[in-house]
Amino acid sequence: MNTLLADRVKNAPRSFTRKILDVIGHADIISFAGGLPDESLFPHELIKQEINHSLDTQPRSMYQYSQAQGACSLREELAQTYTNSNDKEILITTGSQQGLDILCKAFINAGDTIVVEAPSYLAALNLFALYDANIVEVNLTCKGVDTAELEEIFKTQKPKFFYAIPTFQNPTGWSWEEECKVEVARLAKKYNVLVIEDSPYNDLRYDGSKGISFEELLPELSVSLGTFSKTLVPDFRIGWMRANEAFLKVFQSMKENTDLQSPKFFQYIVANIIKEGNLALHVNTLIKSYKVKRDTMAQALSKEFGNAIEFELPKGGMFFWIKFNDSVDTMKLFDVAIQKNIAYVPGCVFYKTDTPTPYARLNFTNATLEDIEIGVKRLKEAYQEYIK
Ligand SMILES: Cc1ncc(COP(=O)(O)O)c(C=O)c1O
Repeated sequence: MNTLLADRVKNAPRSFTRKILDVIGHADIISFAGGLPDESLFPHELIKQEINHSLDTQPRSMYQYSQAQGACSLREELAQTYTNSNDKEILITTGSQQGLDILCKAFINAGDTIVVEAPSYLAALNLFALYDANIVEVNLTCKGVDTAELEEIFKTQKPKFFYAIPTFQNPTGWSWEEECKVEVARLAKKYNVLVIEDSPYNDLRYDGSKGISFEELLPELSVSLGTFSKTLVPDFRIGWMRANEAFLKVFQSMKENTDLQSPKFFQYIVANIIKEGNLALHVNTLIKSYKVKRDTMAQALSKEFGNAIEFELPKGGMFFWIKFNDSVDTMKLFDVAIQKNIAYVPGCVFYKTDTPTPYARLNFTNATLEDIEIGVKRLKEAYQEYIK
């Protein structure tokens, strides 16, 4: 079989996600590993009502093939999310993961340089590697990226784009300060580098107020990616791309070549949920619940670990990024943790290379409050055993 497969398959990066799914499928494990929303909060009744309404009122043409850009009603609702954009600048995608794939198709020739934050979203790193991109990392702190380092990369390596998650980042939960965004926008203009702003977590804000976006700072030289996976349900697989019309036409053609169009049925439903104000209400429910979970995890981490770990309280999103003592390798600690029935994601998988790190990503939205407390205790036991 191997002789038949393309090089990209042979060189495909191993997926830690698969290893995690293997282990957490078994036994009595509490998982802080996935980036999963809380299933108990999925708005099932609301969806049922909207599906029935849609079946009763939509014409039969809703089942028909249609243009790839997506349902006009949803694009119009989404355009209001942005300051300077209209529905012609929105493309509906099959999750924002498809948006990432479209970007690779549109911009990456094998060997082209692109820039990512270090650390960054695992599935984006894997995808960029599949397209044979030369991935260059720029260091991220809780205030934003190192802009001096970024300028050096822009100047010397001429990247096609900079892929960033500036708000409630995956994996760190950190957000860039406004100063950092303004400087990155200035550098992008100066060196003609496209900024990709991936924003799946923006609406899950527990503290503070909304910051400026790259759509506002750099409308012509940025692409925004969004999704309903975190605010409604992941299974609808509805995401979107926002870009100027010229880029959008290219993205639409890349999408057509992949799947012709995303199914419209759930697009109509989501458009209606937004229009009637029910998405905003649902997001408020999520925020209330997730904020309590975040605070519970923060308290449990401080109580159990004291000075043995460092972390920032995430102002939104789904993750804590905790740092153990420098000598701890969280990939090795993971094996001990699994013996104690607790799972998390070791930090090294979020970097280009698998160099050991003392970081770990913990998800706080999917576990119950009780499991958050028990899980953090188990993690502490695993840590004590590891350092023995
Ligand atoms: C940063 C980031 N981008 C994109 C995605 C993909 O989301 P979806 O394809 O479900 O819209 C995720 C999912 O966790 C993510 O964390």
